[in-house]
Amino acid sequence: MNKELLDKVNKRRTFAIISHPDAGKTTITEQMLLLGGVIRSAGTVKARKTGNYATSDWMEIEKKRGISVTSSVMQFEYQGKRINILDTPGHQDFSEDTYRTLMAVDAAVMVIDSARGIEPQTKKLFKVVRQRGIPVFTFMNKLDRDGREPLDLVAELEEVLGIEGVAMNWPIGMGQSLLGLYDLANQRVELYHPEEGQDRFIALADGKAPAGSPLADDPQFEETLGEIELLEGAGASFDRAKVLAGQQTPVFFGSALTNFGVETFLEQFVDLAPAPGEHEVNGDEELKPDDDEFSGFIFKIQANMNPQHRDRIAFVRVCSGEFSKGLDVTLARTGKQVRLNNAVEFESSARVQVSEAVAGDIVGLYDTGNFQIGDSIYAGKRKLEFPPLPEFTPELFMRVSPKNVMKQKSFHKGMNQLVQEGAVQLYRNYQTDDYILGAVGQLQFEVFQYRMKNEYNSEVEMTSIGHRVARWINPDQLDPKMSSSRNLLVKDRFGNPLFLFENAFAERWFHDKYPDVELTEKL
Ligand code: G4P
Repeated sequence: MNKELLDKVNKRRTFAIISHPDAGKTTITEQMLLLGGVIRSAGTVKARKTGNYATSDWMEIEKKRGISVTSSVMQFEYQGKRINILDTPGHQDFSEDTYRTLMAVDAAVMVIDSARGIEPQTKKLFKVVRQRGIPVFTFMNKLDRDGREPLDLVAELEEVLGIEGVAMNWPIGMGQSLLGLYDLANQRVELYHPEEGQDRFIALADGKAPAGSPLADDPQFEETLGEIELLEGAGASFDRAKVLAGQQTPVFFGSALTNFGVETFLEQFVDLAPAPGEHEVNGDEELKPDDDEFSGFIFKIQANMNPQHRDRIAFVRVCSGEFSKGLDVTLARTGKQVRLNNAVEFESSARVQVSEAVAGDIVGLYDTGNFQIGDSIYAGKRKLEFPPLPEFTPELFMRVSPKNVMKQKSFHKGMNQLVQEGAVQLYRNYQTDDYILGAVGQLQFEVFQYRMKNEYNSEVEMTSIGHRVARWINPDQLDPKMSSSRNLLVKDRFGNPLFLFENAFAERWFHDKYPDVELTEKL
């Protein structure tokens, strides 16, 4: 065990914020950056989102659609801890990128709009988080507006997501009548609008308001006490082991917009969220975060973040050891040695040279085409290979070809790079070799088309072949005669055959016709 390294690792908190669009993810991220002293005024992140802060042409598409396409990393110090927030694009069309980012974090913060409760995108993201078994912390947002009953909101976690919710604080009133938050752990009340000269926090004695305080004899506070009693009788009690195992989610209330309850949340989150832990390697071995040798995996590649530099950055989640400039690593997939001379970390929107990076940190490597998503890199003699990142089965498909047949070269170059980046999935028609792209959402195609034109000078023709059900088939069972008008036989970029069925009905028809043939949703 390397004590010094372990101390550093234990200071890391690496997490992502998941939510349905508009629940308040950007707003709460911004408040956290303010608390961390990274930005000085509210509106910085927001401006980026709405496009007033476009740092590159690439951001234009975000501007047009008013959404965040790129996911970035934000780092700051808070309460002696080093915080890494991995931003996940909230728009549903970008779920593929978001899903992969969730592979690189140790915890997730789930932001829920308290008027809307659990929404579809939250459900989808929660499913991925649950599969990983990482802890989830819940922030019920927009308390400054009238929302649903807090008891309902907590119950919904269990009913809809199947996770036990345990309240860490409780609202006193809501919307117009919001008075404050009852902080159960610290036995104090945080006032929403403290009067001039009044302390924001009121300490409680035996759960009671001190005489003469604004809470004494307040009917709303009395009601809150009743609710808390109910909660303590019927609800779950906080169990750290359950939280760490992803079986229980601590629930916090607040209003990101008015910066109410965010600090209380962040303080407790930093305390309760886990430091980077062990990682599975080489199939069945465990790798300790304080293992002396550096290792990590690439969960995201992004080209041309800055068109002036035409650069390509591979984002590495460090899993063990310590990163230093000029480190020689081996790329597990090829066995090739790579010297990591040019690496950056991310301070809000700025990139700076890496000073120190240990397990939990994210390092950006300038890449000249060496890396692919899911690649493992390691510095020691022992080969370390992390499990492959899950691929998410596309549901939308497009036939694609260059508009100008004379420009095949740039078409192929762009296509290869963007596919490697994981921006879209590539398939080839089994018979004709035509290109077919697959994506989880429509916007991925738009971004692909836009980037092909702007970054590779290649205009592409795209024809939708609509929604399809993708199913892989064991090559030994494949007979090209199985291809019919209701399905399309293609191969993925590794050459594995699969059928794209017109719909579930077509798939069933196939099953009936070839009952012995096994089809799988994923490889
Ligand atoms: P997102 O990243 O999850 O998509 O959400 P974002 O933070 O952009 O917030 C979505 C909308 O909800 C924004 O309003 C934001 O101001 C508002 N909001 C966020 N937190 C709170 C909160 O605690 N209380 C209230 N009342 N509103 C909140 P918008 O009208 O879409 O944008 P803007 O006009 O404020 O820029």
